[in-house]
Amino acid sequence: MASVLVVGGAGYIGSHMVDRLIENGEDTVVVDNLCTGHRAAVSDKAKFYEGDIADKDFMRKVFKENPDIDTVIHFAAYSLVGESMHKPLKYFDNNITGLIKLLEVMKEVGVKNLVFSSSAATYGIPDHMPIKETDPQNPINPYGESKLMMEKIMKWADEAYGIKWVALRYFNVAGAKPDGSIGEDHGPETHLVPIILQVAQGKRDKLQIYGDDYNTPDGTNIRDYVHPYDLADAHILAMNYLRDGNPSDAFNLGSSTGFSNLEMLKAAREVTGKEIPAEIAGRRGGDPDSLVAASDKARKILGWEPKYDDVHSLIETAWAWHSKHPNGFDDKN
Ligand code: UFG
Repeated sequence: MASVLVVGGAGYIGSHMVDRLIENGEDTVVVDNLCTGHRAAVSDKAKFYEGDIADKDFMRKVFKENPDIDTVIHFAAYSLVGESMHKPLKYFDNNITGLIKLLEVMKEVGVKNLVFSSSAATYGIPDHMPIKETDPQNPINPYGESKLMMEKIMKWADEAYGIKWVALRYFNVAGAKPDGSIGEDHGPETHLVPIILQVAQGKRDKLQIYGDDYNTPDGTNIRDYVHPYDLADAHILAMNYLRDGNPSDAFNLGSSTGFSNLEMLKAAREVTGKEIPAEIAGRRGGDPDSLVAASDKARKILGWEPKYDDVHSLIETAWAWHSKHPNGFDDKN
């Protein structure tokens, strides 16, 4: 039976991916350097290696010890838009070097399938909504630029070495495994949904909403929220698509429904029954007005059917995680 290697499998999305693969009966190997990931987030049923994908000797050992790996699913990258504006070289060094070294070793050992986490951030400021895969990609931050460069690197690696890839361009990811056993745990936290829920828990005084003068109906940014389980299911479909010998391609992953920051706050108040104090603050750099995915390509070609397109049910799953683990993976239970 073929095995799958998940790099970055101890992170927020990667750990949900590993959980789904195990549930699907896939033989799963995980690599993570634990710089932002959590060992406790990785299912015991996966084989875990701590190390860096840019360390070629280490990666050679992983492939050697697991000769049945035929597909790599890649989550091992830095992903904070705001931080990337201040530390662009950190992003280019880690994200791009990591991918190049990984591809070099994949070429050496003859592994030909790569499913890659790309991002809506590769589009920059779209001139219409929803965003299609064929729309221009002009990133407005180094994080998005690094992901676009990585897409291009994979394209040329396919041309030269026949390494096939699927780039999945995620929109905004939120939610957790419904039983609350794994979820989102960043330090420091910068994302909207976990911050709203930390206010609901009393861990923060109030939510600051970054700007209400955007070109949207209520003036706050609109985003398209997608659950990590739905993303994981899309990766499994993409892996099977590559295993079936299909050509390299890119797909948007979003629910195709936009919610403003104020609508997300309202929904979280309804789900939690908490007041959740909030105030309007100044704009944050690098935020486009709206980002909503056209996701019909993934639905049509991969057969993807996201199940969490109701934002209340998505927030409910995140709330289950935060309620059970108020201190994230530092909690023992
Ligand atoms: N926001 C607030 N207050 C906060 C935190 C966020 O108002 O305390 C707002 C942001 O300004 C933005 C929205 O909530 O309007 C969503 O912000 P997030 O930080 O949760 O997410 P981003 O849209 O910045 O970025 C996320 C991922 C990126 C990915 C992008 C794609 O972190 O990796 O979605 O849309 F590229």
